[in-house]
Amino acid sequence: MFLNIEQLSFSYGEHKVINNLSLSLKKGEILAIQGPSGSGKTTLFKIIAGLETPQEGEIHIDSNCMVSIDGKCLVPEKRHVGLIFQDYALFPHMTVYQNIVFGCYHMPKPLQKPYVLSLLKDIELEDYKDRYPHTLSGGQMQRVAIARALASRPKILLMDEPFSNLDEDLKDVFIPNLKALFERHQLTVIIATHHQRDIDLLAPKVLYLENGSLVDKKG
Ligand SMILES: Nc1ncnc2c1ncn2[C@@H]1O[C@H](COP(=O)(O)OP(=O)(O)OP(=O)(O)O)[C@@H](O)[C@H]1O
Ligand SMILES: [Mg+2]
Repeated sequence: MFLNIEQLSFSYGEHKVINNLSLSLKKGEILAIQGPSGSGKTTLFKIIAGLETPQEGEIHIDSNCMVSIDGKCLVPEKRHVGLIFQDYALFPHMTVYQNIVFGCYHMPKPLQKPYVLSLLKDIELEDYKDRYPHTLSGGQMQRVAIARALASRPKILLMDEPFSNLDEDLKDVFIPNLKALFERHQLTVIIATHHQRDIDLLAPKVLYLENGSLVDKKG
């Protein structure tokens, strides 16, 4: 399996948020995670990305160990995990183009520009490349945040409520395009969302976060 999480547990102080959670995904799979507010979706993403350290469990991505059973953790910048938060933080002093090219640090310079231009086309913001974030709508900012995450060519992309600022009409066009993009890159993606429409458009598989573990409600 491309992503392997085994018997993961994590507490904030006395409060157990993730409890003996296991999950396996193949390369290129797209999974949606649902769960009520406070169930631990963001916490799980932070653990996978390396921003929180679990008390128990193991995580492997593409056969590389992120968290080992004896508690050794790989630093976030070596994990190749892309994380898009609910609030799509862009750099305010950088243009759309500069925000996205920031993610291309791993690429030879001459390849960066054509790659960013192709990503701008994918998110349908080619004409916005010189604009600053404060001049964009919420939905446009979200799309730039997605492009920036993709620019770093992550092995896994974690998206935390990434479409909350996209109106329904835009979703119907944008999400299928994004799905095609993921498929083209064979990208493994987990999306946390409360919106059934997002799931219908993007993710063939859904798991529910309940009592700190992932369960399949379809049985
Ligand atoms: N830094 C923190 N310190 C202490 N407790 C925290 C911290 N961050 C989150 N929590 C608690 O951990 C639990 C899980 O929070 P988390 O943000 O993962 O939920 P969520 O499923 O993402 O919720 P939402 O759908 O509202 O985004 C909550 O009870 C929350 O209050
Ligand atoms: Mg959350």
